[in-house]
Amino acid sequence: MKRAKSNLQYWEDPKTISLVDNNLRLLEENFIKKTINKKFYIADLGCGDMYSTIKYSSLSKKTYCIERSRYLFNKIKKNKSKKLEIENLDILNFSKKKIFDLVITQRVIINLMSWQKQKEALKLIFNSLKKNAYYVCTECNIEGLKNLNSIRKKNKLKKIKIHDWHNYFLKEGRFLNYMKNLGFKLIKKEEFSLYYILTRVYSQSSSPISGYGAQIKKNNIHKSVDNISRSFYLDFVKENILLKKQYGPISGYLFKKIK
Ligand SMILES: C[S@@+](CC[C@H](N)C(=O)[O-])C[C@H]1O[C@@H](n2cnc3c(N)ncnc32)[C@H](O)[C@@H]1O
Repeated sequence: MKRAKSNLQYWEDPKTISLVDNNLRLLEENFIKKTINKKFYIADLGCGDMYSTIKYSSLSKKTYCIERSRYLFNKIKKNKSKKLEIENLDILNFSKKKIFDLVITQRVIINLMSWQKQKEALKLIFNSLKKNAYYVCTECNIEGLKNLNSIRKKNKLKKIKIHDWHNYFLKEGRFLNYMKNLGFKLIKKEEFSLYYILTRVYSQSSSPISGYGAQIKKNNIHKSVDNISRSFYLDFVKENILLKKQYGPISGYLFKKIK
């Protein structure tokens, strides 16, 4: 697969996969679904092929979603339902007319290639919410990736690199500070550390994975290991065990608009 010249081009390529690790997606969905309510008008921004959106839509009153990629939009516009509104739109042109009970982004803010653009999008999200409404996201931070790479290094595994031609990870401190200044309160954060340690360090110590996206090369054993790791992680969360540091980039953040 030739490296895309821009983020836009990357998401126009039919071979691009949003998240190869489906167990990690299930963990993201699990975090997001907890906030959805049958009475809510929700928005999923940068909804991709709507794989997760359809699930969120079944739990809410009405769902509005936007997707910038023309290729993905042409795929998803076939999803006809009175409960669904789908637009081919850039998040930076997100309408100010619609007001939601809950806005979702799942690895989308990190597709905006500068902190300036990310701040712009986060402000638009803030303005599109009712007072006391929620913004729930699963986005990547640099700190989690660095910590994960440090234990990969100890175990003689290669660094996982940021795909910096289509991703710009958050610096968590300035992100949380900006959200607070906008008028958001952080209600909950979920880190998927144990899942990352089991699947990116422990299992790969005996069976390393190479490549990414559609070109990922991995032994079949990872299918079952990832599945077991997810259920192990969920049991671990029930026990409320927190590690001192975050390992792995994706985090779930739940914010409430309080101003
Ligand atoms: C990592 S994928 C996530 C897709 C979906 N949320 C999911 O969980 O599968 C990022 C998505 O954001 C879309 N995207 C990137 N930049 C965008 C922008 N400026 N406005 C709207 N969508 C955008 C991409 O086209 C892609 O579908």
